[in-house]
Parts: sequence; structure tokens; C-alpha cells
Amino acid sequence: MTELQKPQAEYLKDYKAPDFSIEHTELTFDLQPLTTQVNALLTLKRVGDSNAPLVLDGIDLTLISLSIDGAELTDYKIINQQLIINNLPDECQLSIVTQTSPQTNTSLEGLYLSGGAYCTQCEAQGFRKITYYMDRPDVLSTFDVTIIADTAFPHLLSNGNQVDSGETQDGRHFVKWQDPFKKPSYLFALVAGDFDVLHEKYTTRSGKDVTLALFVDKGNLPKTEHAMTSLKKAMAWDESRFNLEYDLDIYMIVAVDFFNMGAMENKGLNIFNSKCVLANQETATDKDYHTIESIVGHEYFHNWTGNRVTCRDWFQLSLKEGLTVFRDQEFSSDLGSRALNRIDAVKVMRTHQFSEDAGPMAHPIRPEKVIEMNNFYTVTVYDKGAEVIRMMHTLLGEENFQKGMTLYFQRHDGQAVTCDDFVAAMSDASSIDLSQFKRWYNQCGTPRLNVTKAYDESAQIFTLTIEQLAPLNQPDNAMLHIPFAIELLDQQGQSIALQYQGKKVDSVLNVTQAKQTFHFDNIEHSPTAVLLEDFSAPCILNQQITEADLLHIMRFARSDFSRWDAQQQLFINALKANVISASNAPLSDAVIDALRVLISQREGDLALIAELLKLPSFDTLAAEFDVIPVDDIIANIELFEQQIAKQLHTEFLSCYQAITDDGSVSAKAVAIRALKQLCLHYLAKTDSAKAVSLIEQAAASTNMTNVLGALSSVVKAAHPLSNQLLAHFDSQWRHDVLVMDKWFALQAMNSADDAIEKIKALYTHPCFDFSNPNRVRALVGSFSHFNTAQFHRLDGQGYTLLGDLLIKLNAINPQNASRMLTPFMSWRRYDETRASAMKAQLERLSNLEGLSDDLFEKVEKALQ
Ligand code: ARG
Ligand code: ZN
Repeated sequence: MTELQKPQAEYLKDYKAPDFSIEHTELTFDLQPLTTQVNALLTLKRVGDSNAPLVLDGIDLTLISLSIDGAELTDYKIINQQLIINNLPDECQLSIVTQTSPQTNTSLEGLYLSGGAYCTQCEAQGFRKITYYMDRPDVLSTFDVTIIADTAFPHLLSNGNQVDSGETQDGRHFVKWQDPFKKPSYLFALVAGDFDVLHEKYTTRSGKDVTLALFVDKGNLPKTEHAMTSLKKAMAWDESRFNLEYDLDIYMIVAVDFFNMGAMENKGLNIFNSKCVLANQETATDKDYHTIESIVGHEYFHNWTGNRVTCRDWFQLSLKEGLTVFRDQEFSSDLGSRALNRIDAVKVMRTHQFSEDAGPMAHPIRPEKVIEMNNFYTVTVYDKGAEVIRMMHTLLGEENFQKGMTLYFQRHDGQAVTCDDFVAAMSDASSIDLSQFKRWYNQCGTPRLNVTKAYDESAQIFTLTIEQLAPLNQPDNAMLHIPFAIELLDQQGQSIALQYQGKKVDSVLNVTQAKQTFHFDNIEHSPTAVLLEDFSAPCILNQQITEADLLHIMRFARSDFSRWDAQQQLFINALKANVISASNAPLSDAVIDALRVLISQREGDLALIAELLKLPSFDTLAAEFDVIPVDDIIANIELFEQQIAKQLHTEFLSCYQAITDDGSVSAKAVAIRALKQLCLHYLAKTDSAKAVSLIEQAAASTNMTNVLGALSSVVKAAHPLSNQLLAHFDSQWRHDVLVMDKWFALQAMNSADDAIEKIKALYTHPCFDFSNPNRVRALVGSFSHFNTAQFHRLDGQGYTLLGDLLIKLNAINPQNASRMLTPFMSWRRYDETRASAMKAQLERLSNLEGLSDDLFEKVEKALQ
């Protein structure tokens, strides 16, 4: 690639308002697999510079004709995927006829065929693969859409309300849709196919009837109930918690098998990856049920946070994604277990987000420079973005936060706005100064907090000194405003009321400077301090803390999250001590005893107990080291798990036999299954005959959570039952690709030395398909993320497997390729042998002819 051809970056600082508005958009689609004709009629109005040309984006389009107010136009230019027209009148109608080829579009962006159905994905910049358009989120237009297709596609869907339908002269049929709400092109959607439909009704709080329609592939109706129930729960929750109602007469969800992400919030017509919709007890796990509920909620919540108020430009993506993730997390927490939802969210932050923020792709939640926008649908924009919203919620409190939301909608309904607009609404509504807080939007990296504790027995004063340090990779960052939540526990485990000099002290400390001291008096004995309670800010906390204090927190903290956090710290400390001193000391008796108490007494939420008994993941532990000691981490996890499995064998056995779920999806049944699965995980690590029979029983269950629990416990333990159970599963589920994804993922976990050969052999399995992102992620994504031992083989074969795949995917689906590349991004954090082998794969890619922008951007940054 020569210098000149390199993909160009765009910068937030260069934002310029559009020169034209598109008042109205009329689209007619004549659907054919290889040549779909799109007639676009745009009503344009000049709103900017009187000499400015009209610049429309378009990619992979065949231009058939152009006309202005009915007269053919020949005076135009096409340069760098843009159609440029000079000397346009201030108001006019531009007609554009183009053709595209859905069948050969394997990028799953724009208009494409997914398992026989036409569908679209336009966010972020896919609409330009459908027609020439001002494909930017600050151009909002009303849309009329007519779809013409063969009668083999009975359902023709688009945004808004159906206003007409009928037959065409040549025996085909058409449907016309009108969306009364102005929207940017990224929210456009079209679907054409033959589906089974689940229809239900929802009446909003103000009495408006809404038709709910869920479209799935023929035969899948028995798997739709959970998604439909989730949708209704989401609609009711948004009314009660946020006072927000749905605004159209119909809400449609379509499930498709070929989809790059989880789902898309197109106005009135959500398109979902089928794995985020379809579920029943036989085919989906409890975790799948939870994911479906949260994604159905997420897309629904976008109707207000994203669609009614959208982003001015793509640098503002976190405006809608951070906020909507915060909203879906709250939805899940209000409906289920707040502690478990918090644990899940924090795991994502501490593993994936912290590592992204410390690596070559580090970017603020509002990025400033982008080559390929699809590369910025990241854990930083989504999950750290949600943490930033959560911190504002912590600083303002629920009441003020809701006032802020109300003001935000009052000011900006129907507009395309910026993150600054959102923070301004929050600050104005609460009269809380958020000017320093706003730095969270433009600084990347994870801030570090060093905390020292002091107790003055004679004065009965406890003192916390909190030092704020810039992220290691961003030494010049300015000080942030950090809400630092704490709890002080006395020797009996009671919470101490916080006060100083006769005044109550709030449990959320405002950390704003490089070094601050906080005093608490009337403290009779040295307390145990719970710091960064509930992970009140996305920071790395450093403190000296004894094992006894951690055990005390694990028993008594009011925050279940913080109890779990302390337990994790106990494991982390033990492992780190072993790695640093090159020893293999077992977990202390005190830790084992605490675990024994948890498993035998089983007090409270059983799902939480299951979490408390789990060791931190490889990624969590890896985050503790500058150079990741791959082999030591793997060896120590195994050492501790063996120890727990042996020393608590009796307890796991009796727990497993003492609790039975009723087969329902109630929170209680889900928790029981979670704990049983945890027991099985440890039981599989011993060679007890009793364990074998329990595993065989679970594997024969009709409940997928139990089946998968059994299978994953044997696979992870490399138990002799593995091959037999996997073979049986394959023969039982070949007809259901979504279930087979679980099987592919299990195959990828094979820790034996033939793992790579077996994965390559699976490329020819009848269910495998390189063009389907779900299959690729299930098999190779699971391998590269979770099969640490084999992926990080010293001979580099694991890396070559991924490198080969990326080269293949670069040509099929660059978005998916780019996501699959992630494990290579942190190559610098490994030992020399591994780092150079990973680097070699990156260099291979960088020399690849036809490298996509998606991969280019990440490979270039990784090698910089
Ligand atoms: N807005 C969608 C969601 O979070 C994500 C779609 C992103 N798609 C993409 N190709 N980048 O719900
Ligand atoms: Zn979203």
C-alpha cells in the first residue's frame, strides 16, 4: 500500500454542520438478489453556505440515473466514494436510481441476504451501501418506503406505519411504509422474508394500544415467548422508572441469523441477531435468558435515548450507548439481582475495558480520531460510557438524575446533540457543578487510586488519604472528579455511621485532587474499610489490606458486590504471592474455611454464593501484571481449583444433592442451577465415581443450563467423559445451529495438544460457516479468548490459526475480522517469545493486499 492510499482519519475537532437538509426521503426498493434497484427521491433544502456543493456518500453502488426536479443531471463527480453535485438551487428534488447486490454482500452492512431473507444494517455508515445519501446522524428526515418483491417474501417491513399494499402488474407485490418521526439514515431498516409471527398487544400507561410483532424463521415460534415477555417488561419499566412511553402504533422485532452485533434499534423495526431472541428451556441457558432480556430492553430503551434524541456525529456515540447501557443495567438490576448484575458489569470493566484502555486502541468514551467507525463500538464507549453515566447518577442521586433526564428530553427531543448537551442538562437540573467531571469524556486510560489508612486510637479518629494518579499510559491527564464510595465496619461487622466534628459525612467522598485526606471521628476501634464500594468509579484501587480484613468484608459488607470483590482479592493476592515468589503455596485455611461456610450454610442468594466460590478468570488475573505470566497463572488457577475441589469435596457433593430447582426460570430456580453448576465444576475435578453419575445425569437433563453445566465441567477438567458427551450432543442438536454454537464453543475449550487440529477439522463441520459471525465467534472467538493454554502455545500455532482466519475474514466480513483481532492488540504485554509470534501475525496482516480499513486501523495502532 502506498502512502497516498492509506485510509484517512476523521477528527472530532473538524466537525462542520451540514450544508443541506433532507426534508423528506422517498425510497422504492425493487428487491432482487443480484440487482436490487433503489429509487431515491430526496427533498433538499440548502441550510448552509450558498456555494457549497451537495456531497452524498455511496459505497459499492451502481449509479443508473440522476435528475433534479425532473430534469436529467449529467454534471456531477464521483470522488472517493462521494457523489458531488455543484450549483444546486436552494430547494430541489433530487432523484437517484442505483443498484446494489444483496446476495453478494457478505459484509452484513447495508442491504444483504440473511438465510433467504432481505435485511439491513445501517449503523454506523451502512446506509451509503443502499443509496447515495448524506449518511450522517445530524441529517434527519421523514421517510416513505415502498418495497416491491416476489410473493415468496410475504412480509415486507420498514419503519413506522404500513400505509398501503397491493399487487404489481407482473404478479409481485408491494407494501408502503411511512415513518412520521424524523430520523437519521442509520435508523432506517428494511426486511423482506417469510416468517412466523408472534403478535401481541401492549397498552401504554396513558392508554395507547401498541401492536407488538416478533418475526422469526418458520418453525421458531416456540422460542419467542421469552423475548416477547422481556419486551413488555421493558416497556412497563421505562414508564415507571423513566416516565417514558412508546410513541408508534407498532413495534416490530425481526430475528435474523446473519448479524454482526447483538441487535439494532431501527425506529419501530428492531433487527436482532437470532441468538439474542430465540430461547426455550431445552435450547437456551439461564445466561442466554438474561442476555436476551437485557438486549431486548437495550434496543427498546434506545427509542428515547438514541432515536428521539440522537447523536450529532459519531464521536458522540457514547451519548446514546453509554446512557442506554446504563438504562439496561438498571432494568436488569430492578428486575433481578442488583449484586449479580453489578458483578457482571464490573468483570467486563476490569478485564476487557481496562485492557483496551491500557493498550494501543485506548480512546476516551468520546473518541477524537476515527478511521473506521465500526471499530468504536467498544467496551470503552459502551461500558465505560455507562460507568460515567452511573457516576453522574451517584453524584446527583436518583431524583436529580431523573430531573436531568426530563430536562434533556425537553430541550432536545427531535434533535441530534452532543455529550456536552447531556451533561449540561444533568448539571442544570441538579445545580451540581459537573465541569471537572466532564474530563471523563475526553481522557482515556484508567486512573489509579492509592489509599492509605490510619487510625488514631486516643483521638478515635480514622483517616483515609486518597491519592489520585494519572493512568500509566496517559501521564499528562488532568485530575478527575471521582465519586469514591466507602463503608466502615466495626469489629462485629456493623456499619459505622460516618461523622466528623459533629457533622454527618456522606458515604460518597468527592475525590477531585491529586491528594486528599478524609477524617472520621467517634470510631472506637480500628475499623475495616470497604473502599470503592460497588465499584463507584472505574479506577484501579491500590491499598494495603490484610487477609483478616478481606474476610471480614466478605462476611459483613452491606454491599454484596463488595463482599464478592473482597473474595476475589483474596484469590488474587494468593496467586500473586505465588507468582512473585515462584512458589506454589495453597490457599490459606482461613480462606478455605470461609468457602466451606458459604457452601454449607447457603445463606442468602445462592447465585451470589456460586460467584463467591469462583476463582477470578485468567483475564482478571492477567490484569494484575505488567508482563502476563501466562503459564504461572494457568498453573496457579489449576492448583487452587484442585485444592478447593479436594478439600471441599464432601460439601460440594452434599450441596449438589440438597438443592433442587423446579425447572422454571424463576430467580430462585436460576440461582439453584447456578450453584449446582458450580458444584459440578469442582466435582468434575476429582475422580469420584459419584461425580461421574451426577454429571451423566445432568447431561441427560432436558434443561440446557444443566446440560451445558455438565459438559463444560467435563471439558474444562479434561474428564474422560468429555468425548462421549460431546459426540452425543452433536448428534442430538445438529438441526439447531444456535445450540451447535454452544458445542463449537466447548470444542474450542479443549486443552489437549490436538486442540488446533480439531478446530481446523471443525471448519468442515456441516454447521460451520465462515460467513456467519455467530459460528466464527463460537469456535475461534472462544478459542482465542478462553482456551488460554492452547491459544498462547509457545510454538505460535494458536496465533497462526487466528492469523489465517483473519486473512480469510478480511475479504468476507471486515467488521467481524476486526472484532476477532482483539486478542492480538495486547501483544506487548506478553513474554518475548509470545509477543514476537503475535507481532509476526500483525505484520502479516499489515502486508496483506486489500486490507480493510477496519483491520488497517487496529493493526497500525498495534504496531505503532
Ligand atoms: N446500536 C446498536 C446497539 O448497541 C449497535 C449497532 C452497531 N453496529 C455496528 N455495525 N457497528 O444496540
Ligand atoms: Zn445500543
